[in-house]
Amino acid sequence: MKVLGIAGSLRPDSYNKALLVAAAELFPADVEFELWDGLKAVPPYDEVDDVIPAPAAVARLRDAVAGADAVLFATPEYNSSIPGQLKNAVDWASRPLATNVLRNKPVAVVGASTGAFGAVWAQAELRKVLGATGARVVDGEVAVGHAQQRFVDGRLVDANLSEQLQEVVAALVAEIRPRAAIAA
Ligand SMILES: Cc1cc2nc3c(=O)[nH]c(=O)nc-3n(C[C@H](O)[C@H](O)[C@H](O)COP(=O)(O)O)c2cc1C
Repeated sequence: MKVLGIAGSLRPDSYNKALLVAAAELFPADVEFELWDGLKAVPPYDEVDDVIPAPAAVARLRDAVAGADAVLFATPEYNSSIPGQLKNAVDWASRPLATNVLRNKPVAVVGASTGAFGAVWAQAELRKVLGATGARVVDGEVAVGHAQQRFVDGRLVDANLSEQLQEVVAALVAEIRPRAAIAA
């Protein structure tokens, strides 16, 4: 089984990337976790460019999502919503709508911000957007507020948040286990 991790931040030292690295350690041994690093290359969505073949970076995004049994998103909050580059990538992934790679895909959302509330609004926005694509949005939230205090040398050091992250990971795995068994 494979889970793709997509962070909504482009920063190399992103707390949201660190959150996905922390999540990667919580998956069972038989789950391969890939932290996707192609977000910055995805061009701005333009319907004129949304043709076959897709732009190379878009094809890589769609292939990465299609090849995963589930996707774990970690989003920062930009002005009470999700970063434009993340929304842009989901927009590309969402077409063609009826057969888009996110449709029926189990997805979960967590988030970190340097503000007090841990990107809760961004997480809610992302869940809404993913729901519109037809993804199966798994319940659960991890809101890492004051992220600069929750990571030391890139590692999540808050036990409560680690526990919440474990719960989201477990919920996502529970969602894909029966599907992987059927596919096998
Ligand atoms: C354009 C912009 C808007 C932001 N808006 C918010 C916000 O609405 N709420 C919040 O808690 N943090 C906000 N922040 C701070 C981010 O939470 C912080 O930069 C965070 O570290 C970004 O995530 P990253 O570490 O994964 O890059 C904003 C940052 C930027 C650059």
